Amino acid sequence: MALIPLTLMEGIGYKIQVPVALNAATGETLMPLGNPTTESALQSLLEVGKKARAFVSMPVVEGITPRVLLDPQHSSPCETTEGIPRRHGVFRLDEIGLPLLDHDILYGDACFEGILIKHGRVFLLREHLERLWRSAGELGIELPYDRLALTLHLLETIRQVDFEPQDNSYIRLVVSRGLGDLGINPGKCVGSSLFALVSTIRLYPKEAYERGIPLGIARTIRRPGPSILDPRIKSNNYLNNVLALREGCNGTSHVECVMLNQDGFVAEATVDNIFVVLKEEGWQKDASKVRVITPSGTFCLNGITRMTILTLSRELGYSTEESPTLLPLDLVGENREVFMTGTGAFVMPITSVAGHRVGDGKPGEITRILLGRITETMAEPNCGLDLGAGINEVRRYLGV
Ligand SMILES: Cc1ncc(COP(=O)(O)O)c(C=O)c1O
Repeated sequence: MALIPLTLMEGIGYKIQVPVALNAATGETLMPLGNPTTESALQSLLEVGKKARAFVSMPVVEGITPRVLLDPQHSSPCETTEGIPRRHGVFRLDEIGLPLLDHDILYGDACFEGILIKHGRVFLLREHLERLWRSAGELGIELPYDRLALTLHLLETIRQVDFEPQDNSYIRLVVSRGLGDLGINPGKCVGSSLFALVSTIRLYPKEAYERGIPLGIARTIRRPGPSILDPRIKSNNYLNNVLALREGCNGTSHVECVMLNQDGFVAEATVDNIFVVLKEEGWQKDASKVRVITPSGTFCLNGITRMTILTLSRELGYSTEESPTLLPLDLVGENREVFMTGTGAFVMPITSVAGHRVGDGKPGEITRILLGRITETMAEPNCGLDLGAGINEVRRYLGV
């Protein structure tokens, strides 16, 4: 692999930004994924507002906790270890909001999980709970439930949502430091607050998987390392990623971009992990000649789709690497494929990076194979928790 730092790439005539999103292979303009109109943004919101329900759990602090949470018709008291009464309930989104003094709202002092519901199952729930507990532990936020109780509340909430068969549905599970004064001091917070928003989600259109999408690249806004904000903590503080997305997609219709770490090596995309596949001579006959490479786990979120793809790649006989020295230039050129992974993106083929073609500019064979394998995996019953599960099945699934 070529080892040329990004800073030198412009010097060798490497143009970082392109003004329009073209399919590098065909020259066609890509489907309108980016630049959503206000009208389409409003439509999405109206759809969410109609169907979504949220499980909300908060300490009771008079004058601050929303009154609807104090109303016995809407909520009930729950056990608490924090010495302050706590209540919870399931609400429509216009019935309740987070109090303005919640430190998620004031400071992004919270962590979350985005979990897909597919084939009547909560997909990889165990793995998502594991990561949530780890993130909360790193932040020193105590969850108000154990995994069993929380899962039962999630199932109860999901069952109250009237999904259409064609809906893709999703849980946004958030736990915040809780209620505090206007200072940042976590020691002055009463907490935690937890909410689980169960809603529909718009995923990428089918054509995007068939044709692939282009990625931009953020040059100045970098992914901080563990000494600033450990990327393995799935925190609610996404401002850095938002700024990177603005920079990396500026002037194009791109919807995702590559983020680099502070040393200029590829870290991940703003809400997805990145993979490059190098196909060495003879790869068609010998699976071990297929090298599936993703940036080192210290630079990026330990994505659950990333982990699944690494496992499936090994099962398929490919060699896998978690690289601390992957450069932007390694993503483009011949004999390679790039794809990104995430709960929302799934496995998305990438056809160009910063206007430079990946492979032949079309989704590659290995990407297609992995997309096929993960689709099959998702349909396996043991890959998630059945929405109709009773307490015993939940216990078995969680191993508690
Ligand atoms: C920064 C970042 N990287 C990667 C991912 C993909 O992770 P997962 O596969 O667990 O959804 C996400 C998902 O939200 C993310 O926010």
